[in-house]
Amino acid sequence: MALSAVYLSGVYLWSLAAMWGGLWAKPENQPEAVLEGPFPWSHQRLPTNIRPDHYFIHLHPNFSSTPDSDLSASDSLTGHVLILVTALDNTSLIVLNSKGLTIKEATLTDLTLSVAVQMSLRVLGSPSSEQLALLSDKPLIAGRKYQLSVSYSGSFSRSYSGLYKASYQTPDGDTRTIAVTNFEPSSARQVFPCFDEPSMKAVFSLVVVRRSQHISLSNMPQRFSKHLEEDLVEDHYQTSIRMSSYLLAFVVGDFSVSSLLTSICSQVSVFAASHQINQTDHALLEAVKTLDFYEEYLQIIYPLPKLDLVALPDFESGAMENWGLVTFRETSLLIGQFDSLRGQLWVSLVTLWRKTPSAPLRSERCSVIFLTTR
Ligand SMILES: *[C@@H]1O[C@H](CO)[C@@H](O)[C@H](O)[C@H]1NC(C)=O
Ligand SMILES: *[C@@H]1O[C@H](CO)[C@@H](O)[C@H](O)[C@H]1NC(C)=O
Ligand SMILES: *[C@@H]1O[C@H](CO)[C@@H](O)[C@H](O)[C@H]1NC(C)=O
Repeated sequence: MALSAVYLSGVYLWSLAAMWGGLWAKPENQPEAVLEGPFPWSHQRLPTNIRPDHYFIHLHPNFSSTPDSDLSASDSLTGHVLILVTALDNTSLIVLNSKGLTIKEATLTDLTLSVAVQMSLRVLGSPSSEQLALLSDKPLIAGRKYQLSVSYSGSFSRSYSGLYKASYQTPDGDTRTIAVTNFEPSSARQVFPCFDEPSMKAVFSLVVVRRSQHISLSNMPQRFSKHLEEDLVEDHYQTSIRMSSYLLAFVVGDFSVSSLLTSICSQVSVFAASHQINQTDHALLEAVKTLDFYEEYLQIIYPLPKLDLVALPDFESGAMENWGLVTFRETSLLIGQFDSLRGQLWVSLVTLWRKTPSAPLRSERCSVIFLTTR
């Protein structure tokens, strides 16, 4: 896999053809790469010798349409993550989090060299501390940028954390299944190897593979979709703003949508099963009012171009305020349970205004909103 990236005055200039073309070639049936041996890191917290800057995550949650109660063994997750990191010390050891993932291959590329040379990394796992140690034969040099590449497979969770399957019945009695993530506080590591501590913030570029009858949603708007073989579609998402790993989210399934624009042109949408879409008007109007209110009150513009609210049939808490994709238990979003709705919505939306970076001006947002596609 040839991939070039140049680090230039704070910006990674990627070879786009490599990035979005051949990069995500399916890994062959590689054996598991984890070696036996004493684990070289003895703390629960990660070392601070490596800083993640940018994750490129490619995920295929491959799930059947049988409901979650008989979670079929064939449901699986295939993943590949590229992490652009900066070495903060000279070190041969990279430690990151991973739980329940089968690592197929891990490699490292020094991005400061003019000729990219990919080095294999030795991989050790520590299930008890939910960590992977990646060992390089050649030390990483403080101040240099590297690209860490890990291909792996995983599974659907049997709880409401990580990646799990939920299901609902249509009025005709059909069962529909959806794939949902819930990462707070420490379940992102069940879906991709990552530096899963809130202070180790980075930006995320996600690609999700889905079947063509489904849609996918994530924190950011889609850049484009691409048809693959076998009725599969690859949804490529815009790069997120800098955030903690537990705020990444995606949902795959069939949903209907209703949308409105706020006064500064953020697109607010409520997603629900199609037979429930007529119960979303209240949530949609309240969400738009809430965004407008907080922007005025806090004098801070909501930093993302869109906000999706999704009603989910199986969801542990009332709501999870993933940036740009707030997931709700159905009863907290759909009308009918009116009383719980208002409080839940306000609470989950105000938490979106954490320390926000500079947000676009109203005029910029309003002029681009008509150019972006979901
Ligand atoms: C998805 O899972 C099914 C059932 O295990 C399998 O037959 C199929 O090959 C998988 N698809 C891909 C693209 O891996
Ligand atoms: C890190 O390694 C480089 C190159 O080998 C060396 O020049 C530098 O002094 C080392 N820095 C530290 C802090 O050890
Ligand atoms: C929503 O539509 C369904 C039929 O699709 C209907 O049975 C239900 O009563 C409607 N609910 C509301 C609140 O209008």
